[in-house]
Amino acid sequence: MRQTYPLLFAGKPLEPNLDLEVCDKFSGEVAARVPLASAELIDQAIAAAAKAAPAMAKLKAYQRQDILQYCVKQFESRQEELAESLCIEAGKPIRDSQGEVARLIDTFRIAAEEAVRITGEIMPLDISARAANYRGMWRRAPIGPCSFISPFNFPLNLTAHKIAPAIAAGCPFVLKPASLTPIGALIIGEVLAETDLPEGAFSILPCHRDGASLFTTDPRLKLLSFTGSDEVGWKLKSQAGAKKVVLELGGNAACIVDADADLEDAVKRIIVGAFYQSGQSCISVQRIIAHRDIYDDLKARLVAATAKLKSGDPKSEDTFIGPMITEGEAERVETWVADAVKAGAKLLVGGQRKGAMVEAALLENVPTNLPLSCDEVFGPVATLASFDSFDQAIAMANDSEYGLQVGVFTRDVYKVLTAWDEMEVGGVIIGDVPSWRVDHMPYGGVKNSGLGREGIRFAIEDMTEIRNLVIREIDG
Ligand code: SIN
Repeated sequence: MRQTYPLLFAGKPLEPNLDLEVCDKFSGEVAARVPLASAELIDQAIAAAAKAAPAMAKLKAYQRQDILQYCVKQFESRQEELAESLCIEAGKPIRDSQGEVARLIDTFRIAAEEAVRITGEIMPLDISARAANYRGMWRRAPIGPCSFISPFNFPLNLTAHKIAPAIAAGCPFVLKPASLTPIGALIIGEVLAETDLPEGAFSILPCHRDGASLFTTDPRLKLLSFTGSDEVGWKLKSQAGAKKVVLELGGNAACIVDADADLEDAVKRIIVGAFYQSGQSCISVQRIIAHRDIYDDLKARLVAATAKLKSGDPKSEDTFIGPMITEGEAERVETWVADAVKAGAKLLVGGQRKGAMVEAALLENVPTNLPLSCDEVFGPVATLASFDSFDQAIAMANDSEYGLQVGVFTRDVYKVLTAWDEMEVGGVIIGDVPSWRVDHMPYGGVKNSGLGREGIRFAIEDMTEIRNLVIREIDG
């Protein structure tokens, strides 16, 4: 990992200062320094993006594809560096970091494929005598300059989910990476700066609150795509004016385990879904809802598997649980667990905190009105509850302000269909945990979990507008 990384202003590296310290989340030491963009620089970057919009829109599909393919090659050759810096800046265990780099590459590869598949439709208009001589067709045109705000938990891949479809669609953009983990986005920016993107087409600008409001309020930006907490996301939407808004927000995902599940398999998957990267994923398993007939067996297996998880230095290949993003976040999780225990919950395993490290924890009998049940824990903690009928399990899973994804371990095809029909979520994952995602599938939530869908093809729909063409044929 280098000691400094420039920001990207109007497509070029720039180092106006080095005011932002990026810490190694395990050691707490400063690992690198990066610039902070001022409000003035952000304003100029938006102006550059607006100026670049016609040139971006004119790029041919094969040119957009070439740019994205170049990025894929560069990321492939820089995999080790990307994984190492991610491991340090996010405290993400090295194996999970390598997994995220693989997903970054997938996301750009899919975008390269989609860049040449943005199609339209011929639409006959002669549906009545008055339209007898009219023909119609529509295509997708880029929406224009986009504003992106990306989170700390997947600094590479959730940034890629904004940048790659924007390039595929022909939209310039400005991006604010999370201040705690800006380096992944800055490396992506370094690679973009080597491509033939039109002058000024993109800026990647770490910044604090001063000036950051422009990302939301500036009317030159035509779309805001935000990934982060529901509290911030809905507030930004109310300030975004006329621009289109896409929100990928939080969740407290449920995982239903029915009586016919293969428990050995379910336990393996739930341990990963609940505790990988210390539960800091919007689709982490937070609420395990198990059929009463297998509840005790599942609980015993989960407790035994949780107790064995190895925590420690994320740089070690055998570490499964690394630090949380900050000590403050770890303290919050500790408090939520303590409050639940005070209110009558039983702590089955784990839950102790040391600095930013929190042991993976399982609890049962957690009152449903406590944050651990009804808010997003975003830490390595899951709760267990039992059900008697599948309808009850669905009602329990739906009893949430959130609705991102749900996992259901069942072999009964009719229950699969019932879950698909009745779960209030963006995605139902059968035979696996809600935490499962592959990067071209539609991904997003309902209720407090957000608006719109990512997954390249779906993001491109948001980043383009339908432009219709009507042709009147003159008789004779
Ligand atoms: C998220 O935390 O919203 C993203 C999860 C993922 O991409 O796996």
